[in-house]
Parts: sequence; C-alpha cells; structure tokens
Amino acid sequence: MKVLVTGGAGYIGTHLCVELLENGYEIVVIDNFSTSTLEGLRRVREITGKSFHVYYVNLLDKKNLKKVFSLHQIDSVIHLAGYKSVRESTSDPMKYYRNNIEGTMTLCEVMQEFNVTSLVFSSSATVYAPVEKYEAISEKHPLGPTNPYGHTKRLIEEMLRDIFDSNTDWCIRILRYFNPVGAHKSGLIGENPKGIPANLFPYLSKVVVGKLPALFIYGDDYPTPDGTGIRDYIHVTDLAKGHLYALHNLSSSSGVNVYNLGTGKGYSVFEMLREFESVTGKIIPYLIAPRRKGDVAFSFADVSKAKEELGWEATRGIDSMCHDAWKWQRNNPNGYELTRIKPLKKEVMSYDWL
Ligand code: UD1
Repeated sequence: MKVLVTGGAGYIGTHLCVELLENGYEIVVIDNFSTSTLEGLRRVREITGKSFHVYYVNLLDKKNLKKVFSLHQIDSVIHLAGYKSVRESTSDPMKYYRNNIEGTMTLCEVMQEFNVTSLVFSSSATVYAPVEKYEAISEKHPLGPTNPYGHTKRLIEEMLRDIFDSNTDWCIRILRYFNPVGAHKSGLIGENPKGIPANLFPYLSKVVVGKLPALFIYGDDYPTPDGTGIRDYIHVTDLAKGHLYALHNLSSSSGVNVYNLGTGKGYSVFEMLREFESVTGKIIPYLIAPRRKGDVAFSFADVSKAKEELGWEATRGIDSMCHDAWKWQRNNPNGYELTRIKPLKKEVMSYDWL
C-alpha cells in the first residue's frame, strides 16, 4: 500500500514515516520545507534502513502536486502539512488561512481527480471550546477555537464533511491531537523548533541542556491542585502509531470519523518539570511568570472512542516522554541545524535514495 504523507519532514511527519516504513507501507513524502529540513528525512532512512521518494512541493502548487500523483499510484493520503504556530497565526492570520485551507482544498481536488478518496487528516484539540469543568474532552465537546490557527483546523474539518456529503466514496478520519511531545527512542529525530521554543517540552529540554537559563512558568494561580496548567501530553511515537490505526480503519467504512489522540491523563507544568528533573538528574531553574494569553487551566482527552473503534491507545508514560526528549536534545543540542541540507530549487524535486 502506498501512502502519501504531506508535511512528512516535520516533527510528527518524521516519526510517522518511521512507523509507516517499519510496518511495511511504501511512502511518498511531500513537503515545502518551510519549517523543516531534509536532514530529518535522511535520519528516517537511517533509522529504518528503507528508501522512499521525497518531493519538494508546496500544496498550493497544483501543477506539481498533480505531477506527484501521476508518478505514483497513491492509495491513501495522510495530510499533516500546515502552519501550526498559535502566536504567528494571530499576527498573520491570512498566511494561515491561505496555506492551511487553500492547501487542503488543492490537495482534495487533486485527490478526487486521481480517484484517491482515503484521507487521514491531522487536526488538533485546539478546535475545542475551552473547558469549564475538570473533565475529559470527548469528540462531542462543543467546538470553539480561540485563535486563527484553530479556526483553520475547524474550517478544514467542516470542509471535509462537505466533501464527503458531495461524494460518499470519501473515507476520512480526522485526528485531534492533544500535546505531542518526546522524540524517537533512537535520539535521531525529534522536535526542531526555529528560535526560542513556544511550547513547554522543547523549552524544558533546552533548559536542561543549558541552552536557556530557566523555564518561565506561565501562571501558578490556575484552579488546579498546584496552580499550574494541566495538559494531556502524548508521546510522538504513540501519536504516530495512532495514524496507522486510523489508516487501517479507513477500509472499514466510508464517511468522516473523528478521534482524539491523547493519553487521557493530564499533568501539570510542575509535574512535568519534576519528572524531567528525575529523569535527567538535573535541577531545572524556573520563574513564575504571568499567565499566557489564550491558555486554559486544563485540557485532557477522553480517548475511549479511539480505543473502541480504532483499537488504539497510547502506551508510553511521561517518563519515556521526558527521557526521549532529553536524549534527542542532548544528542542534537542545535537540532538539525549543523547538518542542515537545504533543497536548492523551488520546483518539484525528487530525492531518490535507493
Ligand atoms: C499549544 C498550542 C496548541 C498546540 C500545542 C502543540 C497555544 C495556546 N496552544 O498548546 O494549539 O496544538 O501547543 O503541542 O499555544 N508553559 C509554560 N512555560 C512555557 C511553555 C508552556 O509554563 O515556556 C505551560 C503553558 O502555560 C501550558 C503548558 O505549559 O499550561 C503547555 O503549554 P504548550 O506546550 O505551549 O502547549 P499548549 O498551550 O497546551
């Protein structure tokens, strides 16, 4: 079975490619490398010992996207490509609407043209309205994103439903990620944010290896047991495996089904900091800072639907999340930076590593 992975060079994409290749799938990767490097994919090959095709394609570039579909007999698409910075989406919303929504529209048009109607879409828990009570968020929880990035994810979900209504051949699985963290156990691939990380795990990892002086904890006055925000952190390898279960499930029925991907357990910022300290044996300096705009007190998933219908559940705990994030950071203090391979031309390109 041949799977096209859009955004396959990114953090989640590289981990997904490893799982697909290790489970016998043939893959074709497309990416515009706007926030990723080829080096991550080179390491996917190193981990798996398997080759695959990579194309330097922007999803808005229909002509070259069609070229990829005509070169390969694609069976299913896993669509991860998209901008994902909440902060940037509030300062440049049009960039997000253009890229995320128009990119997905173009992809679906080309898929339909080539009679490829199996799609797994990467959505986010950010589509949910903020929770008022301390309870797990199920797929039935009301939607109500609070930033442009979240709006694009919600609109794409709606668009996919409309596409299915117009052509019931479509098999679509929407995966709403909670907080993906950690890295591959090899320490070869991991999260590689540009500049100072905005998210807790990459920030903590940089403090642990001395690249940043201290963690700023955004608020210790939330209505949680220790006053800091609670999130459902999920190991990126568990998350990647979830896609394989969704892919497998595509053949069971057409339609649009939505699944939360999380662990179902919430941990506070302090709990994660203490876990990092215990895994690394290092003291992590921190300062209490004001709450971050847009943050909620708690967010954790009801994962029963994914378990019942996909047969998937996360198995890795916060110890392996911290351990693997640390291993990646320790082995790659500058991320992929030093070994960055940049694509040279802006047209469709194939990196054939066979
Ligand atoms: C953020 C995004 C979300 C995205 C997710 C990816 C926002 C508002 N939401 O979620 O859309 O899907 O990342 O993982 O940006 N914290 C600190 N200090 C830091 C960083 C974070 O105390 O330096 C705290 C936050 O206040 C929060 C928790 O750590 O309580 C997790 O934050 P983060 O990793 O940024 O994830 P989310 O905000 O949940």
